[in-house]
Amino acid sequence: MNQVILLTGGSSGIGAATAILLAQEGNHVYAGSRSGRLPEDLKPESLAACRGFVRAMALDVNDASSLQSAVENICREEGRLDVLVCNAGNGIAGAIEQTNEEEAKYQFETCFFGAVKSIQACLPTFRAQGHGKIITVTSVAAVIPLPYQAFYSAVKAALLSLTQSLQLELKPFHIQCCSILPGDTKTGFTAARKYTKAAQDSSSPYYKAMMASVQKMEKDEQNGMSAQVIARAIARQVRRRRMSISVTPRIDYWAIGLLVRLLPRRLVLWIVGLLY
Ligand SMILES: NC(=O)c1ccc[n+]([C@@H]2O[C@H](COP(=O)([O-])OP(=O)(O)OC[C@H]3O[C@@H](n4cnc5c(N)ncnc54)[C@H](OP(=O)(O)O)[C@@H]3O)[C@@H](O)[C@H]2O)c1
Repeated sequence: MNQVILLTGGSSGIGAATAILLAQEGNHVYAGSRSGRLPEDLKPESLAACRGFVRAMALDVNDASSLQSAVENICREEGRLDVLVCNAGNGIAGAIEQTNEEEAKYQFETCFFGAVKSIQACLPTFRAQGHGKIITVTSVAAVIPLPYQAFYSAVKAALLSLTQSLQLELKPFHIQCCSILPGDTKTGFTAARKYTKAAQDSSSPYYKAMMASVQKMEKDEQNGMSAQVIARAIARQVRRRRMSISVTPRIDYWAIGLLVRLLPRRLVLWIVGLLY
């Protein structure tokens, strides 16, 4: 059956690719972003291949009232809402000592509290219906503590943990939760990454190591997998009757995730330190 889906961060990258794929599979996709643009690569040929549709919506995940009206509009139009994909996100870079409270809160605002507000906006509808799926887009950085992007790792770990707690709380209401943990993916995320103010001071003792680490990460992202790989993993969970608890797309990232869990922590940190 076609599903009615609210997806945040649908104007670019992973969200755009997911919106198109889900629409091609026959679903009704409401793709929210602050710009309220249609996905950037929504070409006429993709549209023609759609059995469902993608409709762009202007919404800010940091504004509970904009999420509330998005949910109300979808329910008025469709009579139901089946799936929420919490994908909107951004990243900051800088040593922990060189990240002030405001910058750290900025990182948590969209990626964590934005997802929480999105979930809270949908839950009354999901509970009343007696069904619903919540998919959060976290990151392999949730399980691999990155240097110089510690707040990004921390926020994605927090979202991963929240999603699993949510799964426990929502079981009685037949609402399922799943986290997707993408690895390096070629999207607009790299260009949108913000360096903290103090991190940009070239005389700082962290500067050289921080720049080398973040630039390596940026290179990996820009040579990374296509957003379609992550879109396919999300679409698979939307189709499944019973979602997985967490999914790390692509075998190499899945294997890295497994090793991180199995190896002694000191060894994991040593390897991460060599790489970044
Ligand atoms: N790219 C990677 O390597 C990678 C790896 C692991 C995880 N991820 C995660 O994947 C998710 C998608 O990232 P991406 O790589 O596709 O990046 P992206 O191309 O920069 O897309 C980010 C999307 O989020 C939207 N957004 C940002 N702030 C928002 C807000 N306050 N309210 C509503 N929408 C907002 C943006 O649209 P507007 O600017 O128009 O609002 C855009 O559509 C993020 O959660 C990211 O952390 C990415």
